[in-house]
Amino acid sequence: MAALPHSPIGVFDSGLGGLTVARAIREALPGEDLVYLGDTARVPYGTRSPETITRYARSCAKKLQEHDLKLLVVACNTVSAVALDMLRVELDMPVLGVIEPGARAGVAASRKKHLGVIATVGTIGSGAYVRAVASIDSRIEVIARPAPLLVPLVEEGWLTGDVPRLAVRKYLEPFAAESIDALVLGCTHYPLLADIIRTEAAAVCGSPITVVDSAHATATDLSALLNDRALKNPRDAGGSLRLLVTDLPGRFGEVASRFLGVDVDTLEVAQIDL
Ligand code: DGL
Repeated sequence: MAALPHSPIGVFDSGLGGLTVARAIREALPGEDLVYLGDTARVPYGTRSPETITRYARSCAKKLQEHDLKLLVVACNTVSAVALDMLRVELDMPVLGVIEPGARAGVAASRKKHLGVIATVGTIGSGAYVRAVASIDSRIEVIARPAPLLVPLVEEGWLTGDVPRLAVRKYLEPFAAESIDALVLGCTHYPLLADIIRTEAAAVCGSPITVVDSAHATATDLSALLNDRALKNPRDAGGSLRLLVTDLPGRFGEVASRFLGVDVDTLEVAQIDL
């Protein structure tokens, strides 16, 4: 079926972290209908091999295609880093990832041209952020490091207090010697810890660090893409959000309502098989 302006946009992530991207899209484009798939049965992706991530990504995209999408947003940094090219070749619709927008936001934020990136092991191992930044401005030095434990902390809803603070500090300590002035949160989950990350980055580096995430930059790119392709929904408010998960929907609904700032009773969460 041909993509039409009133068709929904698919968004997928390994779990609930991609809701940070869905939230940014809803803020920027409140008239769009979104179908969000969180592969909660198989999260995390960030510690898995490129082959497994590619296989998982293909099955999520295939499932979302059943919703007659006009466009797919890969909210997961790990999938964007490892499997975006495959999805663009295999799917008959525009596919937007989060690495390029995140890299562009980071480049814009770093005056000293020393940019830090934290992400999953899979994303860092792929070299995707380093390549994306180099393609925008080859004079920028990228210091990219994994921060894997932050994902389960966010999944557990452990967003404040000593435990996330100590984990963040441990991961940021190596940046002390790097004189970065901006840090890209290259993982869907990290924006939920942005306040702690900002505070600890400033403490470790001895000066304020601009913390950027790819969610807002992705929403801006999405808006431009929809305009370019005449695919923007003419509605300017009231877009719907359907949530699909691959494991128990109950807890996901509760956490999602907090992420999105909406009443849990207004959320429709369905469990599906891939
Ligand atoms: N969604 C993943 C990412 O942005 C983080 C969670 C995971 O490891 O699956 O890289």
